[in-house]
Amino acid sequence: MQVSTPEHYFTAEPASSDERRLINARLAGREVQLETAPGIFSPDHVDRGTEVLLRHLPPPADTVLDLGCGWGPLALTGALQRPSARITAVDVNRRALELLRRNAARLGVSETIEVCEPADVEPEREFDAIWSNPPIRIGKKALHDLLATWLPRLSAGGQAHLVVQKNLGADSLMTWIGNQADAQGNPWGTVEKVASSKGFRIITVTNN
Ligand SMILES: C[S@@+](CC[C@H](N)C(=O)[O-])C[C@H]1O[C@@H](n2cnc3c(N)ncnc32)[C@H](O)[C@@H]1O
Repeated sequence: MQVSTPEHYFTAEPASSDERRLINARLAGREVQLETAPGIFSPDHVDRGTEVLLRHLPPPADTVLDLGCGWGPLALTGALQRPSARITAVDVNRRALELLRRNAARLGVSETIEVCEPADVEPEREFDAIWSNPPIRIGKKALHDLLATWLPRLSAGGQAHLVVQKNLGADSLMTWIGNQADAQGNPWGTVEKVASSKGFRIITVTNN
């Protein structure tokens, strides 16, 4: 019997055929056409959680990290809103990274968005903002490791915005983040639930 393993959107090199297609989406108040493909997260539309997050994001700060960028709805929105910002978009899925590069070129914002694998970001770099619809499905331990890698890189006064589905553990994740501290014993920041909509929570972490 042949057993097939379903492909996860967080696969580095998706095995599904890389059939490109165009979708229409509304980003930063503009109707845009974007390229997507199977094997990545939400290839047919802007995800509902991401939509909720987009409605609650402040204008882009000077430096923004889009953590787990997928085909790029968050990074592209930030770049359209503020071309002078420096937006770093990371993902482990190389197909998603390639699509974001192409989408950034399509929308004329390649100069604003640096698209790369997580390991390519220098460990000492800090960010004024972190935006993420984090990959809950990678499992609790991996998710905690991911957040422990990036949230301590908020600059002084910097703020992260995360969207997490309520029934996928948003509240317990908030409690966990609130209990974390860096190697010097400084808490990662103040954690707040700033909005709840359509089953999603918007969580902020402020490095104050
Ligand atoms: C829920 S999706 C959100 C994608 C995109 N931001 C959006 O809103 O459509 C989470 C993304 O995190 C990526 N991811 C998984 N593990 C990661 C890791 N260790 N580092 C960076 N990104 C990761 C996945 O490949 C996926 O694209």
